[in-house]
Amino acid sequence: MTRKKIVAGNWKMNLDYAEGVSLFSEIVNMVRDEKKGDQIAIICSPYIHLNSLAKLGGETVKIGAQNCHQNESGAFTGEISAKMIKSVGCEYVIIGHSERRQYFAESDALLAQKTTIALKNGLTPIFCIGETLDERNNGSYFEVLKSQLEQGVFGLEAADFSKLVIAYEPVWAIGTGLTATSDQAQEVHAYIRKEIAAKYGQEIAEATSILYGGSANPKNAAELFAQPDIDGGLIGGASLKSRDFVDIVKTFN
Ligand code: G3P
Repeated sequence: MTRKKIVAGNWKMNLDYAEGVSLFSEIVNMVRDEKKGDQIAIICSPYIHLNSLAKLGGETVKIGAQNCHQNESGAFTGEISAKMIKSVGCEYVIIGHSERRQYFAESDALLAQKTTIALKNGLTPIFCIGETLDERNNGSYFEVLKSQLEQGVFGLEAADFSKLVIAYEPVWAIGTGLTATSDQAQEVHAYIRKEIAAKYGQEIAEATSILYGGSANPKNAAELFAQPDIDGGLIGGASLKSRDFVDIVKTFN
């Protein structure tokens, strides 16, 4: 079974409504004209853009949110539910991004709840894991990543787990320009796939798309994506420039 190749942009907290629609329109037109393979292009935007982008993107560029609440509905002022996100045409949702773990104290247990409710509402979670610089330097990164998987998503039944996309985002590479080397990234992606195989079997492990995120750009994408266990990228800064993002999408042409 060939795994889905995915390039997902994460706009984070950037672009007002007009800026977002304008950039997205450029990306859609360029992907329509230049993407040659069956790779999947996704933009994960702030909530204000989702409805319009879903209409503009159609089958050319899919839409994702960057978070969702863990409850179905209720008295949670300021929050957005998975059902609401789905209702505006969204197909994906990033869960467990390191910035949410860090700035909003999102625990593994909370992220497990968010993953479950996203799946229940028909969304595809892009579940993020990654180690800090200290954990990389002290050599504890494999146990950190294994714990994030075990506490976050290994409680899922096999049928549900098989719907996930996993993103490995070393925290020390996010927004720093210090991209993991292709060897470093491949080592971790292979480890993640091995752990998935140990839990759910080889077939599900081989079918799971594992994306790399952390200062990926048009210059390093080809070497990263050529690695046997890297199935695409979760792209921050470079997704805010249409040419850069589409050049990364074209890596899989
Ligand atoms: O979610 C992707 C993001 O964390 C990576 O950001 O700017 O290093 O590509 P960046």
